[in-house]
Amino acid sequence: METQQRAVEVDGQTMMVWDRGPADGIPILMVHGFPLNHSMWSNQIDGLDPDGDRFRILCPDLLGCGQSDSIADGTSMEQIADQLAAMLDEVGVSGPVVFCGLSMGGYVGWQFLKRHRDRVSHLVACNTRAAGDTEEAALGRKRMATSVVLIGIQPIADAMMQTLFYSDPTRSKEQNDQKDKEKREQINKAIASTDVQTIAKLQLAMAARPDMTEFLNQIDVPTLVISGRHDTITTEKEVQALADAIAGSTFVCIENAAHLTPLEQGASFNEALVAFLSQ
Ligand code: MLT
Repeated sequence: METQQRAVEVDGQTMMVWDRGPADGIPILMVHGFPLNHSMWSNQIDGLDPDGDRFRILCPDLLGCGQSDSIADGTSMEQIADQLAAMLDEVGVSGPVVFCGLSMGGYVGWQFLKRHRDRVSHLVACNTRAAGDTEEAALGRKRMATSVVLIGIQPIADAMMQTLFYSDPTRSKEQNDQKDKEKREQINKAIASTDVQTIAKLQLAMAARPDMTEFLNQIDVPTLVISGRHDTITTEKEVQALADAIAGSTFVCIENAAHLTPLEQGASFNEALVAFLSQ
């Protein structure tokens, strides 16, 4: 089965979407984290549905990211959620989808569910949180929004690469880098190719995002919450507490993974997702 690369018009801009599976398959919308693109879902695009007859997997590059056009100034998480709903209209998906978002993709997910409830059949919240930023965290984002324009993207990519992947403490840095070499290179490339203006705009959007903690007890769709055992960005404890606040949710912690569970441990991630959708 071929993956189609589609160019879809959203808010007057082109959003690129990787679309794989039959038109009548169960639609799964997979929304990437910051500052990445659809490629972080490569294990899902290729491995979630090997026979290619069950799921329709839709992985967009959010505006400003990957191969999509730029993101407008002042864009909010709410607007990104609306852009995804508009994208689904454009690709002919009018029924409910499995919304699967990682980290920033999860922040968008709360807004998508709140604003487009009838378009969600299941929610998959990966390595994410519902709380808004502390004052200190918001300040850090605003500082990065200013500094990235001056210092460029590579220092940010270098810093992020330290935390996104699990490094086994019994191995040397070289051994760890070697173990996930291709994946690390793929992610470094995704970050390093992101425009500095996108970094700034998404940081400001995340700093301004609402606290959705109170929303969790209103969630009435089957929900899977996934964490990485060694995630230091959204810790297992924090993600487990998120799952505890969503009635009836399923919690899965992926071993030997940090923040990028679907990429680091694709087989375990896919197994958890398929098991959840088969319930
Ligand atoms: C992400 O992976 O999307 C980021 O860690 C989200 C954030 O900066 O809060």
